[in-house]
Parts: sequence; structure tokens; C-alpha cells
Amino acid sequence: MEMKIALLPGDGIGPEVIAQAVKVVKAVAENFGHEVSFEEAPVGAAAIDLEGDPYPDSTHDVCLRADAVLFGAIGDPKYDNDPKAKVRPEQGLLRMRQKLGLFANVRPTFTFPSLIHKSPLKLERVEGVDFVFFRELTGGIYFGEPRGRNEQGTKAFDTNVYSKEEIARLARMGFEAAQKRRKHLTCVDKANVLATSRLWRETVQEIAPEYPDVKVEYEFVDAVAMRLIQWPKAYDVLITENLFGDILTDEASVISGSMGLMPSASLGVENKLFEPIHGSYPQAAGKDIANPLATVLSAAMMFEYAFGLKAEAEAIAAVVNASLAAGVVTEDIADGGKAYKTSEVGDWLAANL
Ligand code: IPM
Ligand code: MN
Repeated sequence: MEMKIALLPGDGIGPEVIAQAVKVVKAVAENFGHEVSFEEAPVGAAAIDLEGDPYPDSTHDVCLRADAVLFGAIGDPKYDNDPKAKVRPEQGLLRMRQKLGLFANVRPTFTFPSLIHKSPLKLERVEGVDFVFFRELTGGIYFGEPRGRNEQGTKAFDTNVYSKEEIARLARMGFEAAQKRRKHLTCVDKANVLATSRLWRETVQEIAPEYPDVKVEYEFVDAVAMRLIQWPKAYDVLITENLFGDILTDEASVISGSMGLMPSASLGVENKLFEPIHGSYPQAAGKDIANPLATVLSAAMMFEYAFGLKAEAEAIAAVVNASLAAGVVTEDIADGGKAYKTSEVGDWLAANL
């Protein structure tokens, strides 16, 4: 297969972890007989510095030309501490999601046997946890209008708005994923309070009969926040709106003990983007110490979700597990053992595929 991949390394450790994913993608392509090409473009603070825009049109064009986008991380402390900064890296991320139509953010939580002792939860609660969030990514309160302040600047408002179409297309992706998994879907909402949530519930109820093999449950977001800690094994596929998904997927990302190792996909009809869940970790930038595994596993998701190549994705997951078992890991998970450099982990993965 021919694959054109856009590389958007972004800020902080982004370039270093993307470089390791590229090594792994090249090795997989060689082993499985695929032809892969890369085109790189700036995003985030890196793009502000270069072009004054965190998501320049030229970068958008590179994404449109590609079959899939591999994204590093964005964010730079020089913008975080300045609430009056006119352009912020995060605006680029939001504009990119909207312009590429990436309406479904897929965030899995699973465990690595060798890291499970790092979980903040008791072993019996976390062993075997395997669920996936489908977070709506281009609607809701992140984008709803009106938003802003009154004239005196003494009141601020945001608008949460969803159409049935937006809910249904996200829900359908969740149902289809559930059919391929344990056939259990949880709709996470706040239907006891919010009109948007009542529309979510109504829409999901309407389309559920199309997936008779999937068991559907409806749970309030506050209860899910609790149960994710108490008994995360209760979940298989969870679907939810943009803001609830933002919050719950951060909670979910720490329960397996593999914080910093979780990958994600953002899917649209035409475009597909893959990125690690972790941020740009500016303190580690340029030091060759950042953990590249979340980005490497995002590349695995790319093979599966963008190209339908499951064996390739599984080969990457297997070599990641092998590196963990062999102790070829960066300092964050070295546990007092030898800490390998970011680039050494990437080299090892590519060589051992
Ligand atoms: C995420 C991030 C973004 C979000 C921020 C950086 C705008 O937290 O990808 O979850 O809120 O969506
Ligand atoms: Mn977030």
C-alpha cells in the first residue's frame, strides 16, 4: 500500500517523539511491503514563531494532501503564563480539528502488565482494564456561539450546542467500535440537567435499534467520574460530548499506571490524525529523555484506523511490549534500572520489529 503521512511535530518534546515514530513506521512499511512518504509542517508555538499563526494555511494544505497526520504535541510556557496573549498555540489545535473535520476523538485505556504496579488503583481493580472513549471533538461548548463578555466585561458566557447529526455520527462510530469489541456502549451525559444532554440521550436511543447486538447504558457524567476509579472494568465503549470527554479522558489516562503511554486518534470523514495524549513537556525538550511510546502507539492506531492494517498495528504493539519487558525504556519508567534515551528506544523498536 502507498501511504502519504503528514508530520506535525509541534512544540517541546514533539519533534523528538515524532522522530521515533517515523523510525518505527519506516521499519513496519519495509517489513510489510508498503511504500511510505512523509511531509513535515509546523504547528503550535513553533508555527507562531515561524509564521505568526499556530495553524498556517500551508500546514492545512499538507494535512489535506496526506492520507494521515501524525501529530506530536503543542504548547509553550511562554504563552501559558500570558492570559492576554493574542495568539495561543491551542487555538491552532482547535482550528485544525475543525478545519479537518476531526469530529471523533478516540482515546483507549488499556494496561501493560509490566507497568500495572504504577497504577494509582488497587491491582484487582485495574488488571484487565480495556475501554475506549469516543469524545465528540468539533462541537459543544468548545465551539458554540455566542461566547464572550458583556460590554462592561463583568459577565462571561459560553454556549453548549449540539445538533442531532453531530451526535448521531459520533454515536454511530461508538456503536460500530462496540460491535467489534465487547458489545457494550455507555452514553455519558448530564441529561438530568442539560437540554443538550437530553438530545444526546434521545438520539442515541433512536439509533440503538440499528445495533441490536450492542447493550446500551446511560450514565450521568458525575457518576462515571466516580465509577472510572471504583470499577473501570465496567466499561467497554463510552461516548460523550466534547467537554465531558476532555475531562474524563484525562482521568482515564492515569488509571492504567502507564501515564504518558496512551495514544489517540482523531477521525473525520476525509481526514485522520494520530497523536499521543501527553502534552509538550517543555522541561524535557531537546534532552532526548522523553518517552516516545505514546507516539509510537499512535502510529499503530494510524495503521489500523487510517489504513485498515491490523497486523501492522499489532506488530507495533508487540514490539512496544517487548521493549518494556526487556527494560529498554526511558527514565520515566526505568524504575531505578538503566534509563535509555528517547532515540535509543526508537532505534531498538525499529530494529526489533
Ligand atoms: C486535549 C487538550 C485540548 C482540549 C486543549 C489543549 C485545547 O486538553 O486535547 O484534550 O481541551 O481539547
Ligand atoms: Mn484535554
